[in-house]
Amino acid sequence: MEFDEVVLGRRSIRGYKPDAVPQSLIEEILAIAMRAASSMNSQPWNFYVVTGEPLDRIRRGNTERMLAGVPQSREFRIGSAFANQHRERQVGVAKQLFGAMGIARDDADRRQDWVMRGFRQFDAPVCVILTYDRALDGSDDAPFDCGAVANALVNAAWSRGLGTVINSQGIMQSPVVREHAGIAPDQVIMKSIALGWPDETFPANAVVSERKPVAEAAVFVGF
Ligand SMILES: Cc1cc2nc3c(=O)[nH]c(=O)nc-3n(C[C@H](O)[C@H](O)[C@H](O)COP(=O)(O)O)c2cc1C
Repeated sequence: MEFDEVVLGRRSIRGYKPDAVPQSLIEEILAIAMRAASSMNSQPWNFYVVTGEPLDRIRRGNTERMLAGVPQSREFRIGSAFANQHRERQVGVAKQLFGAMGIARDDADRRQDWVMRGFRQFDAPVCVILTYDRALDGSDDAPFDCGAVANALVNAAWSRGLGTVINSQGIMQSPVVREHAGIAPDQVIMKSIALGWPDETFPANAVVSERKPVAEAAVFVGF
């Protein structure tokens, strides 16, 4: 695929076929993703690629704790809840997803099911836990670099026919992830990325999220 085709075609995938993803293919994708730029080439990122029984234990642990009302415990600052245009965009994409899935606004059960799906990593066969070196904790560069590698990863995966969704839901219960993925103490958990072969029949996978126009985002100076 051409670069534009990959970037413009990629979208988050929230329904997967159960088929396994070969380790060699994931290694190939990671090698491409790791060409991402990083602050002074520090390459603070690491990847715990989880499948099978350990991933099922994470799904179960996340589900149990979220249903029990255990407060989320992410390992980075999350700031305050979205407001104004950020909240509008959050609601906008949620409406697109619920619309595609035929989930009504007042259907509390199906809305709850949808949320729990995220805590199960969307039942994907693979979950990549993205971490960074704790020695860099406190610098905003390390999370920035993780964003760069995550973006490269999802596009590299897409170019090979694999779907992904970068997500916070999978790492909200970080002790569960730490235990079952065996995250080393010198790593900070940054994000999870569900990965697998897209289920083309899953309606939400067809959703193309909106973007604000370049004219709204960019200020050109000195042109
Ligand atoms: C940092 C980050 C966290 C995200 N967390 C979640 C999540 O917890 N659950 C989810 O369904 N999608 C999550 N997403 C996916 C976004 O909703 C999605 O990228 C956005 O709506 C744009 O849609 P697109 O990826 O299809 O272009 C996350 C994406 C990013 C970059």
